[in-house]
This record gives sequence, structure tokens and C-alpha cells, in this order.
Amino acid sequence: MNTEGNQIAVALDGIGKRFPGVIANHDVSLTVRRGTIHAIVGENGAGKSTLMNTLYGMHQPDAGTITVNGNVQHFKSPSDAIAAGIGMVHQHFMLADNFTVLENIILGAEPTHLGVLSKGVARQRITEIATASGTHVDLDAPVSQLGVGQRQRVEILKVLYRGARILILDEPTAVLVPQEVDELFATLRHLVDDGATIIFISHKLDEVLAVSDEITVIRDGTTVVTVLPRDVDRAKLGELMVGAELPSPAGRESEVGAAVRLQLTALTVDAPGQRKILDDVSFTVHESEIVGIAGVEGNGQFELCEAILGLTPITSGTVEIGDHDVTQSSTRERKQAGVSYIPFDRHREGLMLTSQLWENTLLGREDDARFMRGPLINTAEAHRDCTEIIERFDVLTPSEVVPAFALSGGNQQKLLVGRELSNRPKILLAAHPTRGVDIGAQAAIWAELRKARDAGLAVLLISADLDELIGLSDRILVMYDGKITATLDPAEATPKMLGTFMTGGKQEVA
Ligand SMILES: Nc1ncnc2c1ncn2[C@@H]1O[C@H](COP(=O)(O)OP(=O)(O)O)[C@@H](O)[C@H]1O
Ligand SMILES: [Mg+2]
Repeated sequence: MNTEGNQIAVALDGIGKRFPGVIANHDVSLTVRRGTIHAIVGENGAGKSTLMNTLYGMHQPDAGTITVNGNVQHFKSPSDAIAAGIGMVHQHFMLADNFTVLENIILGAEPTHLGVLSKGVARQRITEIATASGTHVDLDAPVSQLGVGQRQRVEILKVLYRGARILILDEPTAVLVPQEVDELFATLRHLVDDGATIIFISHKLDEVLAVSDEITVIRDGTTVVTVLPRDVDRAKLGELMVGAELPSPAGRESEVGAAVRLQLTALTVDAPGQRKILDDVSFTVHESEIVGIAGVEGNGQFELCEAILGLTPITSGTVEIGDHDVTQSSTRERKQAGVSYIPFDRHREGLMLTSQLWENTLLGREDDARFMRGPLINTAEAHRDCTEIIERFDVLTPSEVVPAFALSGGNQQKLLVGRELSNRPKILLAAHPTRGVDIGAQAAIWAELRKARDAGLAVLLISADLDELIGLSDRILVMYDGKITATLDPAEATPKMLGTFMTGGKQEVA
């Protein structure tokens, strides 16, 4: 009687995995039906990646059994798992930059040498696979020239080319913009319609609910439950993940102040030969006020922050901080006037990943009298300050002397937010302050932002998380095509309403 085995692609039973000092997985069980999209959700550190790495043969479990397509398996390495039809796309891509897409896909999967003929055959097969899965990418482009979304497609093709019928994707959407997320899920749908099985890890509950056939929740290294998306909602799923009631961004304890902290007047940035990047943007942010900016990425939000900071030349208009016109001032002067910045890309702009935490929290504040001792840096004070940020923002780390790359994404973000808030700024430009962080870290960042706002901080909040915008903001502006096209009261705004304006819908003037 093997009918069960025919329908079950993967069964994990009682999986245990210890690392020195850590029980990463304890008695985890999971059943994935063939031809379905199965989501695994859980907070950072819950043990999701460990479980999937074990299924992929990267670790051997200390306990439990792995059954694939009805056969019990003891994978010694990923090549065993690949031979059993399993493929994995890791959180961090593993492509060779100086090769083309085609070369990357066939790299390591060619039996002998890369003759002209075998390359031609490979090209044809890859084209077939790409067409069947609706995955479009230029096979002759060098990988170095590809964006993140395209690199991910290459990784997926690579895995399919090796014959995988069970695909594991570890947080595939963490690095993608919304449009790319839609494309990825369309591809995954194609694949399951074609009989493949997808296991994907995520902590973005909305997307999990939208695309999964089944959802397994993992908490503290063990399985909590497997549910059908129709039986839960976002709040319920979040509660299962954290084992407590889900925090919400909403909550208001202070009143918007009267003093204007930031005033933009007719700010315009031209792109040579193109349409305007910022087009006549005017608004103010008051003391104790969070002004949210909603918009599809690429509609001028990034340039708006850069213009406020003086990082990009503006064509016309003015920027005022408090009573001072800083339009002609340097970035340094503007920062000294009290502007802090949580940048769009924490890896590229916010943190130095190979530097230690205390060096990272010192970053950009080296001139602060507090951290100077004559011509030298007061390292003792810098260490102390970092430790304080770690404590206050609940950054999970053994100490302040580990490199930033050793921290999970959520903890890196908490450190960054902590650094920017501990500057005691007057104005905070916060771009996606909780992007890619888990629910616990998100709640902590929300709480700190709200506390700082209540204490007088003026915040310009840019976020793709519409619930976050509605929950935190005192006023929401929509940016479309470089212009502010709508102003909404968060008490009345819904995500759907914002979505309409974000894609070009016009606001009716009452
Ligand atoms: N190779 C490893 N060595 C030691 N500890 C590890 C290793 N991989 C993961 N861990 C630890 O195991 C726990 C679970 O991690 P992980 O599976 O990466 O969680 P998740 O993917 O859910 O964020 C964490 O405490 C993590 O620090
Ligand atoms: Mg992980």
C-alpha cells in the first residue's frame, strides 16, 4: 500500500538537530504533499533554515527520519539530495559573478568538458525549462549585470536544470521588490501546476497566506502546527509564530506638535533628458509627528530622502530644517542640524558588515564630542554606547565586538535603528525601518519609533508595509511619479485605498 507515498513528496518525522550550545531543531515533523506550495513560517532563529538544510543534505539530523517520495533517505551531502530530486535556493545567492547566466546554470552539472555542442544542448534544455516555468532571463547576460530578482531566477533555473522536482526556497522574497515577488509567485505556481513541489520559508504573513496551499509554523526549534490558509488570518498566524498576541503598529499617545521641523517647498529634481524625478514636492513634518509616504518603489521616495539630506542636487525648491533654510548646506551640516537616516539598503548604506558592532554604532558619529578624546576616538565610550544600544533595542548578540555580519537581519536592523535614534535627532528619515525583520523585532522598532515620536521627534516614514504606514503615521502622503498625489488620514485610510493611489488613481477633492 503505497498510495500515501505517491502523494507525499516529503515527510520529516521527529527531526532533531543540535549545534554546540544550541538545539536548532527538536522533534520537528512536517508533511509536504506533492504538487503544492508549502510555506514554513517562524521568527528569526526558530530553526527553519536548519530544517531545510537538513532536508537538503547539508546537515545530518541527530534524530528523526527523512522520507522523500516514499523512500527513507540518509543524505550525506547535497549531491545525494539532488539525486533524489531536491533542489535548494539559499537566502544568499551562490552565483559566479564573472560568468554568464548560461554558464552559471550548467556550471558543475556537465558530465565532462564544456564543448560547443553540449553548451548548445544545454541552452535548448534551459530555454525549454524557462518557458515551461515562465521564467525569463537573458542566458548570455553576465551575472554581474543582473539585479537581485534576475539572479534569483537564475538560481531557480539552475536547480530545475539539475532535475529538481522538490524546490526549497529560503526566504526568497526578503530581497525582492513587490513586482518581483509577484513574478516569483507566478513562477512557483507554474511549477506546481506542472507537478513540482515547493517548500518556501518566509515571515511575511500576507504573502504566505496569499500563495500557500499549506502553512507550517515553527517556533523555538519545533513544529507548532500545520494549517490551511483559509483557516487562519494574519493575526492568528502571527500569534502562532510568536506564541503570544500579535503586536500592532497602531497606538497614539502624543499629539502632533505645532512647531515645523521639516519643510519642503516645491522641491524638484530633474533627470537629464527624462521626466522629473521629484516634481514640485511640498509638505511639512511637525514636531511629534510621523508622516508616512506610501508609494510603489521607484516613484521618487529614494531621491526625496537624498534631496533632504543634500546627497543629490536639486533643480529648484527649498529644504528647511526648523527655521533654517538648508537648501545650500552640506549633508554634514544637515545631519548636525538634527537629521538622522535609516537608509533604504542597510547592507549597502547602513552598516559595515565586516566591522564590529561598536564600530558600526560609531559610524557617522565620529565627530560627536562624546566619542572624541583629543584627536583620538574614545573607544571605551564607543563600546559603552554600543552596549547601551544593544540592551535598549534588544539586539541578540554575544557582545559588541562581533562583526555585523554575524547578526541576523532583524538584529542588524535593530542595531541600525538604535544608532540613528540614539543620535537624539530632531528629524528621522526612516526608509523601510522594519523590512526583512521578524515580528518581535518589528514590534520593538515600532515601539521605539512611537516613543521617540511621542518625545518630540519628527519622522518621515517610507514603507512598503501599508499596515505599518497606517498604524504608525499621523498623516499619509502618496507619492506617484515624483509627485505627492494624495493626502490621507490614517484613521480612514485602508491598504486598498492606498493601493489605488499608489498605482496612479486620483484623489477626489472633497
Ligand atoms: N551552523 C550552525 N552552527 C551553530 N548554530 C547554528 C548553525 N546554524 C544555525 N544555528 C543556530 O540554530 C538556531 C536556528 O537557526 P536557523 O535554522 O538559522 O533559524 P531560522 O532560519 O528560523 O532563522 C539559531 O539559534 C542559530 O543561531
Ligand atoms: Mg533562516
